[in-house]
Amino acid sequence: MTSGFPDIRPRRLRSTPAMRRLVAETRIDPAQLVLPLFVRDDIVEPAPLQSMPGVVQHTFDSLKAAVVEAAEAGIGGVMLFGVPGESDKDARGTAATDPDGVLNAATRVVADEVGGALVVQTDLCLDEFTDHGHCGVLASDGSVDNDATLVRYRDMAVEQARAGSQLLGLSGMMDGQVGAVRAALDADGFQDVAILAYAAKYASAFYGPFREAVGSTLRGDRKTYQLDPANRREGLREAVLDVEEGADIVMVKPALSYLDLVADVSAAVPVPVWAYQVSGEYAMIEAAAANGWIDRDRAILESLTSIRRAGAEAVLTYWAVEVATTLKGL
Ligand code: PBG
Repeated sequence: MTSGFPDIRPRRLRSTPAMRRLVAETRIDPAQLVLPLFVRDDIVEPAPLQSMPGVVQHTFDSLKAAVVEAAEAGIGGVMLFGVPGESDKDARGTAATDPDGVLNAATRVVADEVGGALVVQTDLCLDEFTDHGHCGVLASDGSVDNDATLVRYRDMAVEQARAGSQLLGLSGMMDGQVGAVRAALDADGFQDVAILAYAAKYASAFYGPFREAVGSTLRGDRKTYQLDPANRREGLREAVLDVEEGADIVMVKPALSYLDLVADVSAAVPVPVWAYQVSGEYAMIEAAAANGWIDRDRAILESLTSIRRAGAEAVLTYWAVEVATTLKGL
């Protein structure tokens, strides 16, 4: 009988580095990493972000260099965020649908430069472009107007597709946004442009550093549209609805505090599931490492491995290029 100890010794499979490597259940491939990038059109030098050491707001020139580096590192894609100057922000987020607005202009440059080597993706949300900082347009009582926002998202989607985005990241958490954007893309002949739905996006404190990254003007919070961190079933419901509306990929965000959602969603839907290791997750590890309190490189790999192990097929991470380079042993 080999029903237990001493015949059964799980440590056998941990005995050497070669054995551990062979039996590892989860691996990270550079192709499964996506790098978020910030770009501004009113700066002449890249602007470092204080709360995200190592991350910058790019100029168009430094963005070009960054995406070439990303392609050489073999990562799967880049996700572009545009940061308009204050004077380009208004209540409707007009710059988001301007073909020459920062995000659309940057997308053209990036698609031209590396569109064949990796997947060029764009954030489809109004918060960077509105003077009030909300992800949608406001009704007269100051609330975020869901259906009026969908009209803006449809126009944004078409402009982003025209600019060369191959995968639109719908991060606004408006009801019906996936269906609305799919219909708009199809009506304009963009059947092949794919939709990444931030399906289960939570109203999280871990977006803190990102707000600096995009110069957010938000006062208040996003709790009427982003999910309550207390809710698991509701996150799953959002993911299922997005798949029904035509999402090609669904995402859970943030990642590390929401691994239960990553596991639930990946068990429930027939499309790829991604997770976004957000700015606060990045900042926590960087800050602890800078204090000598944590082994930075191991913590980065462990966090990414955990996100993959929970069921995410790909991960958006600010460490994408660094990790890909390490993995390739360059
Ligand atoms: C909204 C958006 C946010 C992030 C990505 N898209 C901010 C928010 O919802 O407040 C956060 C990403 C991060 O924290 O790294 N356009």
